Amino acid sequence: MATKKTVWITLLCIFVVSQADQGFDVRHHLSTVTRYSVSKDVTQNLIEGSNVPSECTPIHLNLVARHGTRSPTKKRLRELENLAGRLKELVKDAEARKSSLDKVPGWLGQWKSPWEGKVKGGELIRQGEDELYHLGIRVRERFPSLFEDDYHPDVYTIRATQIPRASASAVAFGMGLFREKGNLGPGRNRAFAVTSENRASDTKLRFFECCQNYKSYRKAKEPAVDKLKEPVLNKITASVAKRYGLNFTKKDVSSLWFLCKQEASLLNVTNQSCELFTPSEVALLEWTDDLEVFLLKGYGNSLNYKMGVPLLEDVLNSMEEAIKAREEKLPPGSYEKARLRFAHAETIVPFSCLLGLFLHGSEFEKIQKEQPLELPPQPPKTRDFKGSTMAPFGGNNILVLYSCPVDSSPKYFVQVLHNEHPIALPGCDGKDFCSLEDFKAKVVTPHLKHAFDNLCNANRDDPKQKPASSKLSILFGWLFGSSQDTEL
Ligand SMILES: *[C@@H]1O[C@H](CO)[C@@H](O)[C@H](O)[C@H]1NC(C)=O
Ligand SMILES: *[C@@H]1O[C@H](CO)[C@@H](O)[C@H](O)[C@H]1NC(C)=O
Ligand SMILES: *[C@@H]1O[C@H](CO)[C@@H](O)[C@H](O)[C@H]1NC(C)=O
Repeated sequence: MATKKTVWITLLCIFVVSQADQGFDVRHHLSTVTRYSVSKDVTQNLIEGSNVPSECTPIHLNLVARHGTRSPTKKRLRELENLAGRLKELVKDAEARKSSLDKVPGWLGQWKSPWEGKVKGGELIRQGEDELYHLGIRVRERFPSLFEDDYHPDVYTIRATQIPRASASAVAFGMGLFREKGNLGPGRNRAFAVTSENRASDTKLRFFECCQNYKSYRKAKEPAVDKLKEPVLNKITASVAKRYGLNFTKKDVSSLWFLCKQEASLLNVTNQSCELFTPSEVALLEWTDDLEVFLLKGYGNSLNYKMGVPLLEDVLNSMEEAIKAREEKLPPGSYEKARLRFAHAETIVPFSCLLGLFLHGSEFEKIQKEQPLELPPQPPKTRDFKGSTMAPFGGNNILVLYSCPVDSSPKYFVQVLHNEHPIALPGCDGKDFCSLEDFKAKVVTPHLKHAFDNLCNANRDDPKQKPASSKLSILFGWLFGSSQDTEL
């Protein structure tokens, strides 16, 4: 009888444990290192079903996408190689202290970076190509009438930043979008153009690099961001060190969390470094990553997104041109049907902020008044501002312009899709299908009172001199790759 009871209790425990494991998947908690396939369908604020009246037809599409999954940058590759040395040291050190190694995971002492010997980093990897290729296929399938024209670079404008992982993402997307539309090879591919602005003057897709005041802000703010993260990191370092009997430093733990994100995202390995952390520790580490995104790229400072106004204007202009072409009854093939852009997390997070995504009523009002928002609350409290849903690899916003029959007034509407799902626009009373008039008046226009140059390059002491010197420093920054490493 007693044994039977034990068996039942044991079974129950196994059941409970496996239930808990099933509820938690570290792959959903990697902030901006999250994969698109994991993130795509879990964003908050999504609207179920379609609110687009069947008599309305799409007439133009704007896409702003982040590049797909990429390998770690060069600096991070070195960090991982150093970590391998550190882990060996820590195990040796524990042995020397005659401390028990029972608690140390078997892999840890002999761990080597899976990227050991790799010299160059930051490129789009195969899985990243796949993400954008399939996004291209899905976009054409969803909007067949927009993509039935023969390819012309003025009808389907494809723009990428000068960074190779962004232009490679544009190519992968275009290969999906135009597959079987050409004569090249067995896939009947079509050649298409991808154009880029010089990175030192790309105010539409790399405004974060052209905006001197933003660069100063970011540099000045970084120590404060580290300070904010510190208490959490200290606490987790102490717990992890105690749990495994190894004398980890804060830096080790931060590298291990970085390793966890790379293993889980790039290699789909979740049973190694990620298992060093409990689910609640992962949630806290994810929060520290999101704090950084919030303060340096998101709602934490209005300059972060106001500098993206040239992109927002470009989107609006493309819609107005499409309407003009339609009203003038221009022949098909003579006007643009889609403007497709491939850039970075530093582009797409500010762009989402300009649209007011993920905000609630009072927060939206604060943003309109240019008041800062409060920091996203620490777990276990929940938050809407998440890097994993806002800017995963391949994350995107699509703005579809619709024309509705004349007797319905107004005539033109905008629908915003975030990661391919309709999303509530707080500026448009929480609807996803917004009349163009409302979209312009309530979402776009409030941001237009700031000219990019005033925001970014105005110098209180000498307004005339700054632009020239800032251009020089952009050039130097570019020559020496100073911003390369922080870029997502
Ligand atoms: C752990 O490392 C710190 C500095 O890194 C050192 O001061 C401390 O003595 C070490 N503790 C043990 C138990 O080795
Ligand atoms: C990742 O691994 C899980 C099992 O842990 C599997 O179900 C999933 O299909 C894998 N994903 C990819 C992209 O390989
Ligand atoms: C992780 O899981 C894989 C596949 O199940 C297994 O081959 C590997 O040994 C595991 N690694 C660790 C560190 O447990």
